[in-house]
Amino acid sequence: MDESTVTSRSQMLYERAKMVLPGGVNSPVRAFQPYPFFVEKAKGPRLYSVDGQSYIDYCMAYGALILGHAHEQVIEAIAEQLKNGTVYGAPTELEIRFAELIRSIYPSMEMLRLVNSGTEATMHAIRAARGFTGRKKIIKFEGCFHGSHDSVLVKAGSGAAWFGTPSSQGVPEETARNTIVLPYNDFSAIEETFRHEGSEIAAVIIEPVIANSGLILPAKGYLEHLRKLTNNYGAVLIFDEIVTGFRVALGGCQEYYGVKPDMTTLGKIMGGGLPIAAFGGRKEVMQNISPMGGVYQAGTFSGNPISVTAGYTAVKFLVENKNQIYPELESTCKKLAAALVDLSTDRGVEAQVNSLASMFQIFFTSKPILNYATAKHSNTQKFYRYFMELLRNGVFVPPSQFETCFLSTSHSPNDVENTIEAFDKALAAVADGR
Ligand SMILES: Cc1ncc(COP(=O)(O)O)c(C=O)c1O
Repeated sequence: MDESTVTSRSQMLYERAKMVLPGGVNSPVRAFQPYPFFVEKAKGPRLYSVDGQSYIDYCMAYGALILGHAHEQVIEAIAEQLKNGTVYGAPTELEIRFAELIRSIYPSMEMLRLVNSGTEATMHAIRAARGFTGRKKIIKFEGCFHGSHDSVLVKAGSGAAWFGTPSSQGVPEETARNTIVLPYNDFSAIEETFRHEGSEIAAVIIEPVIANSGLILPAKGYLEHLRKLTNNYGAVLIFDEIVTGFRVALGGCQEYYGVKPDMTTLGKIMGGGLPIAAFGGRKEVMQNISPMGGVYQAGTFSGNPISVTAGYTAVKFLVENKNQIYPELESTCKKLAAALVDLSTDRGVEAQVNSLASMFQIFFTSKPILNYATAKHSNTQKFYRYFMELLRNGVFVPPSQFETCFLSTSHSPNDVENTIEAFDKALAAVADGR
């Protein structure tokens, strides 16, 4: 079959999209060369393109869909709620129920507020921390991505790293100056920074497991180290669990590693496929949020009943089935990660594979990936070859080395077998330099 004919509709749509949307997309990592496939529909583990192709999806909307696409219970709940209206501009009992459910899973979030995106959640969490401490500076880590607002677009991961703009234009120098960027997993760098500037630091924000520079795990004792330092210097420790929440474990990294942050941001999975996020934490911090206190935060669509219904249904499903879901996902993920290790060895391809829970990523380099600097050593041309060959074989992974692959409960053993076959072909293509 002639590939150019098969995908021509996507190509046409991409040309049209570029005339009206910057880069033809509404979020940068969706754009890849020569052109992305355009989606018609999705169900379970599969995306169906406008060209009549289908792909086993390991992007899962960048981790948002742990139950797969168009999960029946979630869709039914949304359809039911739609009949009663989509946004009220007045509170509902649903919002309380959802907030109580989240707090029961994340007890560190004594109070929380619902917002519409992860970007909003981290922006407001940082403002709340600054308001609470009366300090300006924050510490973030190289290669962590916390959304696209000024304070955190300094040496950021995800698309910012992929497209060579980790520190964005348009962020005032005065703002960037208040963001101290440190290497992840470096115990002494942060100790040193606190020793010199401790009294000025409002917050430390971190992806406790980095999912935006590929997948990078914390060194033993590193999160505990951050907890101790922030306690000693009165800084607010913010765990950005927008990816890891409901993913690394039901209760996220804080449950998995047993480290309790002062504040947490959640998003992605908590929306059941619809846009919603949350920030929350210690009562003393959250009580400063308007109208209780002087830290302003607001949103027309915050806590809208459609997103809340989708999120509540998905999270409740996870709670009720957690003993089955999380161990099964982990075992499938281990199988995929082990296959990548074995196949790359067999093919003579130098690679590192990091995985945890239902997340994994391959890096084309000979050295272990411990932080952003080591991730940057990966051969991105090889990654592109791997990505394109997977696509040709019906498997879609995020099109960037600096992203992570995600499993869902909808991936069947048969999907996994097909994926492993595609891995082999993709690694053969990398080995051949095709
Ligand atoms: C860890 C993390 N924080 C924040 C965000 C921003 O979330 P959103 O895209 O919903 O604004 C992302 C998005 O990928 C993320 O991965």
